[in-house]
Amino acid sequence: MSQRVAVVTGGASGIGRATVARLLDDGFQLAVFDLSPDPVASVLAINVDVSDATGVERATNKVIAEFGRIDVLVNNAGISGSPQATTCHETPILEWDRVFAINVRGPFLCARAALPVMIRQGTGHVITVASVAGMVAFPGRCAYTASKGAALQFAKSIAVDYAAAGIRSNAVCPGMVQTPMTQWRLDIPELRAAVEARVPLGRVAQPDEIADAIAVLASNRLSYVTGAAFVIDGGWTAL
Ligand SMILES: NC(=O)c1ccc[n+]([C@@H]2O[C@H](COP(=O)([O-])OP(=O)(O)OC[C@H]3O[C@@H](n4cnc5c(N)ncnc54)[C@H](O)[C@@H]3O)[C@@H](O)[C@H]2O)c1
Repeated sequence: MSQRVAVVTGGASGIGRATVARLLDDGFQLAVFDLSPDPVASVLAINVDVSDATGVERATNKVIAEFGRIDVLVNNAGISGSPQATTCHETPILEWDRVFAINVRGPFLCARAALPVMIRQGTGHVITVASVAGMVAFPGRCAYTASKGAALQFAKSIAVDYAAAGIRSNAVCPGMVQTPMTQWRLDIPELRAAVEARVPLGRVAQPDEIADAIAVLASNRLSYVTGAAFVIDGGWTAL
């Protein structure tokens, strides 16, 4: 059987970068969609903004031209929003739109382009990196919280609509992970302590710990799992 093919959006940093490394180890052929992906020899690195419909179509066509199929789409690219994106009435409208463009429109456009390929194959898996913020609110992060709630429901919608076509869809919901997205917060000792005090395991996650969960989903070992929210949060939402 030919190698399985995965597309990882936002694969140049943090959770996405760790996922690319893990899936390469697991024998996948990899394409990365990112704004400035590293030119890594073993990976098809495509410079694309996931909120740009034409760009995503073109990027998906490149993957098909190169590898001929897409088995797994990991919708991982995301942003937390600028420091101005806080509570509802304080959030600049443009910032709300930017967060939704990348965190919700992005997964929609990437899945919209990949699903016809998966339908033709009769198999496929869309894995969307949401967040525990899609389940419980992050204080003072209205746009991010709302966008991750939408991303989680988006994953469920795909699961319901495409199960009969042999396609599964799941969301991954990390708690706080040490990546470039969160480093500024974790560099402030009081903020780091406040986060860690909130987590039963007493620490934040490393990107590899989220990549491991994505890799298990991508492996096909959990073949009856679809429409699920895979929570990897050190117990955050259990408290
Ligand atoms: N770090 C955390 O604590 C945490 C927790 C829960 C969920 N998440 C989610 O995990 C995902 C990855 O986050 P991370 O912490 O690794 O962040 P990160 O900032 O380290 O990496 C995000 C990547 O996405 C890319 N990206 C951003 N906008 C893009 C666009 N428009 N088009 C293409 N690529 C784009 C960036 O260039 C970067 O490579 C995000 O969806 C984030 O919301 C992160």
